[in-house]
Amino acid sequence: MEKEQNKVTFATRLGIIFATAGSAVGLGNIWHFPTTCGQNGGAAFVLLYVIITLLIGIPGMMGEFIIGRNGGKNAVSSYRKAGGKKVFGIIGAIGVLGGSLILGFYSVIAGWCVYYFGLALGDGVLGSQEHINNTFAHLMAPDNYMPCILSVAFILLTQMIIVRGVRKGIEWASKIMVPTLIMLLILLIGASCSLPNAFDGIRFLLNPDFTKLNAHVAFKALGEAFFSLSLGTACLCTYASYFKEETNLLRSTVEITLIDVAVAMMAGLMIFPAAFSVNVEPDAGPSLVFMTMPNVFEQAFPHSVAYVVSVMFYLLLTIAALTSTISMHEIGTAVISQETPLSRSKAAWVVSAFCSVIGVLSAYSLSHKGVGLFGDSFFDNFDKLTANIMLPLGALCTILIVGWVMPKETVMAELTSGGLYPRRAWVVKTFYFFSRIVCPILIVCIFMNKLDII
Ligand code: PFF
Repeated sequence: MEKEQNKVTFATRLGIIFATAGSAVGLGNIWHFPTTCGQNGGAAFVLLYVIITLLIGIPGMMGEFIIGRNGGKNAVSSYRKAGGKKVFGIIGAIGVLGGSLILGFYSVIAGWCVYYFGLALGDGVLGSQEHINNTFAHLMAPDNYMPCILSVAFILLTQMIIVRGVRKGIEWASKIMVPTLIMLLILLIGASCSLPNAFDGIRFLLNPDFTKLNAHVAFKALGEAFFSLSLGTACLCTYASYFKEETNLLRSTVEITLIDVAVAMMAGLMIFPAAFSVNVEPDAGPSLVFMTMPNVFEQAFPHSVAYVVSVMFYLLLTIAALTSTISMHEIGTAVISQETPLSRSKAAWVVSAFCSVIGVLSAYSLSHKGVGLFGDSFFDNFDKLTANIMLPLGALCTILIVGWVMPKETVMAELTSGGLYPRRAWVVKTFYFFSRIVCPILIVCIFMNKLDII
């Protein structure tokens, strides 16, 4: 059988937007953003998040797109070509490793979402606060191996889509899942905002209290924006290698960034009005969607409505997770299938096997105290290693390569899609100013903050 080669592209413009937005929109937007927002003062955090996403996100995403489409192959090969030397392939390799580690621990939360979706279908999520707490405690019990099993199952589910290829797998699945996700979100926002006192939640999300702004919140928002846009893992670069010559990179970047920010805001509009309507503080941290929200649904709606809402809510989380895990899986699958003699399906098995080990270690470490390094669980080890080091490093190298290393003609050829979309001088100047100076300085600041240097 002929090996799938690098000439594969997404079939349609909509496919490109849905697949890439599907990667960006995930648990980061729907679980992590409201959680972090709830813990960091609401609207002040949102404001910084939006500004930072636009400032760093747009040039950062453009950078990965430029390297990916110019390379036309997997991340390692594309970074080599962009830097003009073999050694630059290491940056792609770090991205691949980062994406695979994230897939490992992300699949644990994705597994919880599937578990809660199944429970919600059988009307097992709602009930008294005690029942809700017990349900979560049972899932996390040391003798319950369900989280490990579900994490591996989620990776295999992702693999089933990946092996069908770029068009019939990734693009097809994204075209179904992303619109479904947005529809579910709209329905849930409708239900949440129709509750009494919902406006308090909207105010919490949209009316900033500037006294809450400080460096800590800014750095949180920076980290959130990186993760949410899938920056620094070579994921966007891999997807860009499937873009067509005539794909307008700048327009796609702006559209995807706006969709990502819009979905994060919509997730806030779904969660905060409901929480405020029943006087529940949305600052619970990671257990927000598994312990706080069932309680909110139970209190806010009549049981039959709460049942439907909870089913839709956990389906939404599951779909959001899946569109993102597909993109993380593809980074490694593309490298292995293109750089070794292995077929795409064998390459996918290799990625799944590696990520399953990470997934099982992460899941196990959350239910067994002391399993991990430096006093943290393995889950936190992988999370911190990727979020604090690998993602900022990947994004910094990407932006520096595009700004300082790649020949300007190559960058311009990508920025204009071979002259198809001429760019005004100020657009080019602004892009270079951000890629050469603003983004590197900001990323170095995040880096130093995460490492507790500033
Ligand atoms: N952007 C995804 C989210 O917000 O959940 C997470 C993610 C996807 C991170 C793909 C990294 C990646 F390569």
